[in-house]
Amino acid sequence: MEFVRGEGVHFWDSCGRRYTDLSSQTMNTLLGQRHPAVTAAVGREMDNSTFSDQDFASPLHDGARDALASLLPPQLEVLNLRINDGSSAVECAVKQARRARGRGKILTIKGIYLGQNNLSIHMRGLGERPMDLLMGGSEDIVFAPIPLPDLSVPFEYADAENGQALSELIGIHADTLACVVLDPIMVSSGVFGGRGLASLLRRAAEACQRLKVPLIFDECQTFGWVPDFTLANHWDIPVDMMALGKGIAGGLPLAACASRPQFDNLDFGDADYTNGGHNLSVAACHATCQFISRSDELSRFRSVCEAMAGILEDEIGRRKGLLATRGVGLIRCIEMRPAFADPVAFCQALAKLLMERGIFVRTYGPCIGLKPPRIIEAEQIVDALGEVFAAVDDLNAGKASVRIEAPKPDFSKTTA
Ligand SMILES: Cc1ncc(COP(=O)(O)O)c(C=O)c1O
Repeated sequence: MEFVRGEGVHFWDSCGRRYTDLSSQTMNTLLGQRHPAVTAAVGREMDNSTFSDQDFASPLHDGARDALASLLPPQLEVLNLRINDGSSAVECAVKQARRARGRGKILTIKGIYLGQNNLSIHMRGLGERPMDLLMGGSEDIVFAPIPLPDLSVPFEYADAENGQALSELIGIHADTLACVVLDPIMVSSGVFGGRGLASLLRRAAEACQRLKVPLIFDECQTFGWVPDFTLANHWDIPVDMMALGKGIAGGLPLAACASRPQFDNLDFGDADYTNGGHNLSVAACHATCQFISRSDELSRFRSVCEAMAGILEDEIGRRKGLLATRGVGLIRCIEMRPAFADPVAFCQALAKLLMERGIFVRTYGPCIGLKPPRIIEAEQIVDALGEVFAAVDDLNAGKASVRIEAPKPDFSKTTA
């Protein structure tokens, strides 16, 4: 498939076929393709400048910084906007925590996805991949073994126990920890977001506060896609630092690290990247933040989120093969448990079939991830989810063009 053009929630291939994007491309086009506010702001800046170095004061950067900061938890007064990508934003927060604490260890959740630089690959903790040889050891990372969706415990029931386990682990390692890093929703692990998630995160935050361990939220995925802009805001969780990327510039490359003032401790050049805070991206960021904070947009967004959650919750249990739905705001997943096939293979076949039918979704193990651009309308969600459910039915009934591949036998488990 060749991507040739995009407009709103749609994109087109070279044969002129139109697709509805339920993944916001790399989960980053918060306002869809070619949003007029973003396009106009970038166009104006193109006519005005190409790049300005951080040595100079810049009303452009100050304006965007103020607009973004007004949407974040108020204690995060310092905003480094000179970052290009989410991986570096996470790394910036960890560097700040390490310098503040004079300690190196990081506590996080096994299987977390925090990016693709050396540090964030360490923090995934998946091991046994050839790439890990290139990445060196991960002796500085402590992993909380939170169950991922391929384990059999439904998240709703696991949350309370996990909250307890996570806070205990923070207690055990507090003296050597630089920080705790959590992605509050973990899209790439099939979307956390059971009913107990907020209390799990609150418990971890309480332990961090009590033991004076800095808490970093990676809100690269969530910013703008959840009510109140971030989950720390939405659930009132007192985080010390926040990594942002993905949507903050409506799809243009930009990331940020927001911190309490006491973590504003890096020297010049430690986390100010060349082209970080590029003028075009910063103009897009300002326009994006202004757009998503408009009062008409806020109420429209809330009703679209409710519509999406309502449709998904209604279908679970009613339709064959759908086990659960989780998520917050416009970030949702459907976990599959088909009676006749391996759920992972079923999801892959479903995504392929949906692509044939003009709907783009991503799969995460046994889950289909849904994260449409924020500007999607309720009717567009109804239509797109209707296609998803029709495809599930067709696969279940063996009526689809796509076949489900049988799982490969695992000979490593065979005993002699
Ligand atoms: C939660 C999370 N954090 C960090 C990143 C890394 O962002 P980037 O790809 O911009 O480096 C990603 C990327 O998908 C992500 O999902």
